[in-house]
Amino acid sequence: MRKNIVAGNWKMNLDYEQGISLFSEMVNMIQDEVHGNQQIIICSPFIHLPALVKLSASADQVAIGAQNINQNQKGAFTGEISAEQVKSTGAQYVILGHSERRAYFGETDELLAQKVDAALGHDLRPIFCIGETKEERESGDYFEVIKSQLSNGLFHLDAKAFQEIVLAYEPVWAIGTGLTASPEQAQEVHAFIRKTLAEQYGQDVADNTSILYGGSANPGNAQSLFSQPDIDGGLIGGASLKSRDFQEIINVFNAQ
Ligand code: PGA
Repeated sequence: MRKNIVAGNWKMNLDYEQGISLFSEMVNMIQDEVHGNQQIIICSPFIHLPALVKLSASADQVAIGAQNINQNQKGAFTGEISAEQVKSTGAQYVILGHSERRAYFGETDELLAQKVDAALGHDLRPIFCIGETKEERESGDYFEVIKSQLSNGLFHLDAKAFQEIVLAYEPVWAIGTGLTASPEQAQEVHAFIRKTLAEQYGQDVADNTSILYGGSANPGNAQSLFSQPDIDGGLIGGASLKSRDFQEIINVFNAQ
């Protein structure tokens, strides 16, 4: 059965001490509230990874992830961080294909396919983000956009490797804007993603893949989003920086 996942994406926020204190507060708050089929993932800046891994040792269902890796194995790539280096901190996940990296750092589907391979080569599970821009939504082309992001970034994987992937549908027009996709709009795309996975890998793999929604998710809208049949949780940006909001979002699964 696929897992319900609430993942926090801290982006480029919090200095070292602030990150440690937010994480400690959050782990204390949620410790008794995370149930069997739930996974909580915090994707922090690189500087926090080893410390968060240590702090999460006692919290079974909390895992740590990075927000990027370089596609190369090692070598003369000043300022970059490899999958192997991230893995050596004890982190288990990495966000790949986030729209901010696609837009501001020119990351293409082809590059992302290489990063996916680098991550899987070192046992890091990608949280792979896909989603259309405002123009693509308005032109009605969003299904094609989603399908090509999936096929160019991921469909070189065989079914076994694909089962390590967590997907996040993040409409670009909803990220950090306060504009959330309606539960119906999100469900429509999530169902399309699952159908596309079923065509590529079979129904079993499609049914076992967690597909998260991201884009201005918050305690007020999480319930209506997460209750949709094909929405298996959220990738949370802004609201993951406030322990109370993040806890309330996690609690939505307990109320269902
Ligand atoms: P947001 O960000 O929740 O602040 O919109 C989500 C994301 O970018 O992953």
